[in-house]
Amino acid sequence: MDLDILLMTPGPVQLDSEVLLAGARPLRHHRTNDFAPLYSECVSLLKKFFKTNKRLLLTTSSGTGAMETAIANHFHPGEKILSVETGAFGERFTQIAHAFKLNPIPLKYPWGHRAKVEDIAKELDKNPDIKGVTVTFNETSTGVRNDLESIGKFLKNKDVLFITDGVSGIGALPFEMDAWNLDVAISASQKGFLAPPGVGMIALSERAIAKLQAVDCSAYYFNLKHYIKNQDLPIPSYPWTPAISVMFSLHEALKKIERVGIEKIFAHYHNLAEALRTSVKALGLSIFTQPDAVSDVLTVINTPPGIHPKQIVKEVHDSYGVLLAGGQDHLAEKVFRIATIGAIGEREMIGTIGLLELALKKLGYLKDLGVGTTALLKSFSQQ
Ligand SMILES: Cc1ncc(COP(=O)(O)O)c(C=O)c1O
Repeated sequence: MDLDILLMTPGPVQLDSEVLLAGARPLRHHRTNDFAPLYSECVSLLKKFFKTNKRLLLTTSSGTGAMETAIANHFHPGEKILSVETGAFGERFTQIAHAFKLNPIPLKYPWGHRAKVEDIAKELDKNPDIKGVTVTFNETSTGVRNDLESIGKFLKNKDVLFITDGVSGIGALPFEMDAWNLDVAISASQKGFLAPPGVGMIALSERAIAKLQAVDCSAYYFNLKHYIKNQDLPIPSYPWTPAISVMFSLHEALKKIERVGIEKIFAHYHNLAEALRTSVKALGLSIFTQPDAVSDVLTVINTPPGIHPKQIVKEVHDSYGVLLAGGQDHLAEKVFRIATIGAIGEREMIGTIGLLELALKKLGYLKDLGVGTTALLKSFSQQ
């Protein structure tokens, strides 16, 4: 049977049909009042979900474009930033900082561990000329959720911009841009916001705006001065042609999140993640991420000895039409990842674990079927 592929990946995530169909609407021109209210409503709904009453701008890009926008607009060449690396996406900020001729100081953690406030404090003591700190909110390569609230408390009143990559975290996990003292928070449409890829998001505190006004940005397309000017026009818009169809889908998805209630969605993802973690352990598998750092966005699972993660991903995909994610970088040989965000529920999770069990049996790891699924069912019945 030629089935649609179920995406159990941490982005893009599984989307529902209303959101996908919204993208098929006839286009509206982005410089007219046919489009502007939709643009403005997306911005105001996103501000609610970022928990900010500051400026929020949209880019036409994936998350990396929004990360690049944050770096390109906020620092002069040669300025020092502290780049907290808890995995591949933390490292990406360091690479982007190099590309824009900044002087990034990497603060590296063993993969699977979360960042600690005391280490950030030490680095700031050693380097009083640091002008910004970048931290990944939810590190998708390692399954680590960083404690932005504690870091933000520490950074409050310090003369550094606090920047987060919230690409896989915002919309999926409780997040409070203003209360946690963030200056720049970026995200993208294809993960927690349950829409197709193509829209980047960047929210800015007043001091982030003041700094960008002082920086001679070396990017053109991503120069936020254009974005601010265009958002303030009588017909607010992007500076360039936006991904209009993706915006239609994003609008539909944001209205849905609001209708359901974002807190309920967080609780739903938490229940899925708890059940998944329980069933993984019941299967005799272990979780890669340190227990104090696990996230409800995805679970990173150590592959049993003698089996390559690619074999599991391939078997579940080719035989059953479910896509899991392999490991990134040096974890490519060691782990596979299952997402618990997206337009998914108990139905998809039970299917996924059942099919994973079949795959693990075929690959010679499991003798008896049903242990993981039973644990999952028990966990759901107790929630
Ligand atoms: C935490 C995080 N940051 C950044 C990115 C990069 O986003 P994109 O692939 O949308 O450019 C991702 C994508 O997986 C991510 O999970």
